[in-house]
Amino acid sequence: MMSDQYTPFLQVRDLGVTFLPPRRLPWKAPHRVHAVREVSFAIAAGRTFGLVGESGSGKSTVARAILRLLRPDRGSIRVANQEITTCKGRDLLAYRRQVQAVFQDPYASLNPSHVISSTIGELLTRHRNVRPGRERDQMVVALLSQVGLSQEHLDRFPYELSGGQRQRVAIARALAVAPQMLICDEPTSALDSSIQSQVINLFIDIREQHGVTYLFIGHNLHVVRHISDVIGVMYHGYLVETGPTWRVYQEPAHPYTQMLLQAVPIPDPIQQKHRAAQRRLLHHPSVNSDQADLIAGCPFQHRCPAVMDVCRQTMPGATTVVNGGEVRCHLASQ
Ligand SMILES: Nc1ncnc2c1ncn2[C@@H]1O[C@H](COP(=O)(O)OP(=O)(O)O)[C@@H](O)[C@H]1O
Ligand code: SF4
Ligand SMILES: [Mg+2]
Repeated sequence: MMSDQYTPFLQVRDLGVTFLPPRRLPWKAPHRVHAVREVSFAIAAGRTFGLVGESGSGKSTVARAILRLLRPDRGSIRVANQEITTCKGRDLLAYRRQVQAVFQDPYASLNPSHVISSTIGELLTRHRNVRPGRERDQMVVALLSQVGLSQEHLDRFPYELSGGQRQRVAIARALAVAPQMLICDEPTSALDSSIQSQVINLFIDIREQHGVTYLFIGHNLHVVRHISDVIGVMYHGYLVETGPTWRVYQEPAHPYTQMLLQAVPIPDPIQQKHRAAQRRLLHHPSVNSDQADLIAGCPFQHRCPAVMDVCRQTMPGATTVVNGGEVRCHLASQ
């Protein structure tokens, strides 16, 4: 059987995460926010899973659960056959080294009062036992050159670099630990579009050279698709569609994925008119997460052009898509 031969590097099964927001009115208990619900997916070693979806759909919560920055309410996360949700002690320390993160804001991971050479050098000492000195300096220079920076950046402070250069330093910092997996949470969203593709290309080079496995989160499908082998689309905490990148892009199965693809401006006046209407629908004020927990059925029902009675009653289960992947929509299960 296929499943016996194929052991994924990362396997997420039925992940669920809820938050209890702070009480705003003393007499009213807040509703739990279901940030992530029934999310399952896998990534093969050396491959990239691209996770997309609008702001608030639960992407970062999935990332933070994998990074063990939060404990999920339910589900399993296995990395290299080790259960992550319950691991502790030495195992957890070892895991933290294996999996590194690159976030949208590189300031968060860079010490503002340290020059670049000491930020990266200290990591090499802490995680790889490289003592300060010539060898360590050479390793820092090698890491910087891997991310497209040069010796002249060694003595710079983070504020002396551009946004793109800072993100390159954050990537070098993650690579310093020699991780097996990189979790990239919207790493290009804060950058100018001209620099976005350079940084994406850098991630692609790194994957080719180091065989790193990626979870690559972005809000823009068109950016994420260049690096991803498989795409997952999130909506209101659910993974509503997964599949090989080409299939999701050319034959989107879920009405929300179709909407995401149509919402991208294309320089053609007639197309644009149609797309503008789609965009209005896309940005239609949707129910917020608190309310979404109270309604039954598919979370996309209020914005879906194909909504049926059954959609208001039950959340569709996962259905296999002909050319690869799965979709959670009653249209596909009929
Ligand atoms: N620490 C938290 N406390 C309460 N609610 C949270 C917290 N973190 C995230 N949420 C909520 O969980 C949902 C998913 O958030 P998030 O995972 O950040 O989405 P995304 O990364 O797709 O924008 C949102 O409704 C958000 O408000
Ligand atoms: S289940 Fe129904 S409402 Fe939800 S996306 Fe499919 S057709 Fe639309
Ligand atoms: Mg996020």
